[in-house]
Amino acid sequence: MQLGVCYYPEHWPPERWPVDAALMRNAGLSLVRIADFAWAAMEPREGEFTWDWLDKAIDVLAAEGLKIILCTPTASPPPWLCRAYPEILPVDDQGRRRHTGSRKHYCHSNETYRKHTARIVFAMASRYGKHPAVAGWQIDNEFGWAGSTHCYCESCTWAFRSWLEIKYGTIEALNNAWGTVFWSQIYGEWSEIELPNLTVGEPNPSHMLDFYRFSSDSIVSYQQLQITTLQPHISKHQFVTTNYMSQFTDLNYYDLAGPLDFVSMSSYPTGHAESRSSLYMPSSVLPAFAYDVGDPYVTAMGYTLMRCYKPQRPFWVMEQQCGNVNWSTYNTGIRPGTVRLWTWHALASGADAAIYFRWRAGLYAQEQLHSGLLHHDASPAVGLNDLEEMKAERTLMSEIASAQHDGKIALLLDYDTLWAIQLQPHHGDFTYKRLLFVYYCALQRLGLPADIVSTGADLSPYKLVITPSAYLTKDQLANSLKTFAEAGGTVLLGVRSGFKTSSNLVTDRPLPGIFRDLAGITVTDWHSLPPGIGYDLNSSIPGLHGPATIWAEALTPTNSDAQSRDSDLQIHAFYNDGPFNSYAALVENKVGDGQVLYMGWYPDELQAEVLMSHLAKKAGVFPIAEVSEGLIVSQRGPYTILLNFTDEPLEAAVQGQTVSVGPRDVEVVKT
Ligand code: GAL
Ligand code: ZN
Repeated sequence: MQLGVCYYPEHWPPERWPVDAALMRNAGLSLVRIADFAWAAMEPREGEFTWDWLDKAIDVLAAEGLKIILCTPTASPPPWLCRAYPEILPVDDQGRRRHTGSRKHYCHSNETYRKHTARIVFAMASRYGKHPAVAGWQIDNEFGWAGSTHCYCESCTWAFRSWLEIKYGTIEALNNAWGTVFWSQIYGEWSEIELPNLTVGEPNPSHMLDFYRFSSDSIVSYQQLQITTLQPHISKHQFVTTNYMSQFTDLNYYDLAGPLDFVSMSSYPTGHAESRSSLYMPSSVLPAFAYDVGDPYVTAMGYTLMRCYKPQRPFWVMEQQCGNVNWSTYNTGIRPGTVRLWTWHALASGADAAIYFRWRAGLYAQEQLHSGLLHHDASPAVGLNDLEEMKAERTLMSEIASAQHDGKIALLLDYDTLWAIQLQPHHGDFTYKRLLFVYYCALQRLGLPADIVSTGADLSPYKLVITPSAYLTKDQLANSLKTFAEAGGTVLLGVRSGFKTSSNLVTDRPLPGIFRDLAGITVTDWHSLPPGIGYDLNSSIPGLHGPATIWAEALTPTNSDAQSRDSDLQIHAFYNDGPFNSYAALVENKVGDGQVLYMGWYPDELQAEVLMSHLAKKAGVFPIAEVSEGLIVSQRGPYTILLNFTDEPLEAAVQGQTVSVGPRDVEVVKT
């Protein structure tokens, strides 16, 4: 487990650098991430490079044995570049060209910006690509930050048209795919297609979905430009990564992970916890933890996503919160022990490195109120004391970091489905992310941590696969779920599955469309249920009861003898009242040696927990430990790691043994 810190030498007088470097080493840090946003300091005027300070900063840090993570500075083009080439600035959905003066003010598809990107990346790579102290590279910073995924400029308009032409080949194919016969949208030529902003009413959802895909692809190709520029000039030992945002969904992070050596991320538990209400059911009371630790289930989901974006590779926390943030509503201060708990949580979840953000609280500009390991006046902040405490644990942490994280349960994440539902939710509370979280959180609470993998993933390592919703259909997914079930696996297919084609049109098949044979039922009707309305349920699974809220589907067995003993289909839940009274709500269909369950409603936390427990038993997956709320358990190789996020001591049962975990403390059990 490597620990490091984000540092901005350009913010401090050079005389201070050796002092900082020595303090970093004394704190047990070995990595320093620098130069994100330093373009203006590296190239104050076009073609005029000022490397002296960066050379020196690297040397000073290296002299203390620290290794450098060098960021390409493209997340913030300097003002001179924006003035000389204003076309590089992005345009928002209101058609306004954005200004310089903050960061992420550039368009990913703009050729001029790409040219300058390649220029600065080449300049850095040729200067530092063989530097023995440089461990690796971070490309740009947090692609998509502050809504910067979607740009509505001229460059994007043309790039989108070419993207469509490559995808569809003919304009007729596009017209069919988008259903443009509706509202007289039939296109005669590619150049008639605009970006889907500034329409009078809502834009065409197929047009929108393709624009989302295009925008994601633009960033993937912009990242690729940087990788291709770096690669010939950097040493084989230098890694290339970029940092992802914890709960961010505007970009297809699987695609972005493809060419990277590993995925890294920013983790700000208290900041993310402040917006967690969108992840819990509207009717739920939000769980309470120690006030300064964030919501461990939300943090854990971020880690799980990162662990699985690039299967079989560890991930890094490239920015780990180590004090208060400055960008949430309350910016909670933290107490002793919190940074240690967060670092252990990252490690337990599969991280191999944590880089604290940031070394010293800054005196300047937008992030003046953000904390660091040092206060503004350079005195130690609470996180630095935690690092001191952790010194005694570093050997154990490294042993754990060398162990694999093996999952038996997979939750499937599909960006196309997420976006398609976001574009037409139909019910304001129906979000795919919440659905994913409800299942994820239930598994965590049961001590049954899951992986979150793409719909294209190899499912063979798993015993249980949960598909929150396969709304936008893919033949590949239907086939892989079938193969998985036939081989003995258990599949849960969630609500609204099979509804749409991949171009975001409704299927003309009876629902759940391509999953109908697998599920063994037909969705006879579906209702969006406004707040306060629920359809009561009656289930043979103990503890599973109503009401179904948000969404309900009436299921009819495809074979009429479904109730007979030797039928392949079992009905586990019925509606008990309302218009769907006595229709099935949850069914299980025998498929080969395994089974596919179809779930006709949007479960709440309790229902999800009962169901997950039932399915895990059926699939032969057992909890790592029995835990209570606020106690997180994770397994890496032979290590069971228990983390207490509350202010009370808690107990867990690990393989028959009772383990007590102190408030905001960690226990490791080797099994
Ligand atoms: C991240 C960003 C950092 C810094 C940090 C503050 O999103 O990558 O540069 O702004 O937030 O919490
Ligand atoms: Zn653009």
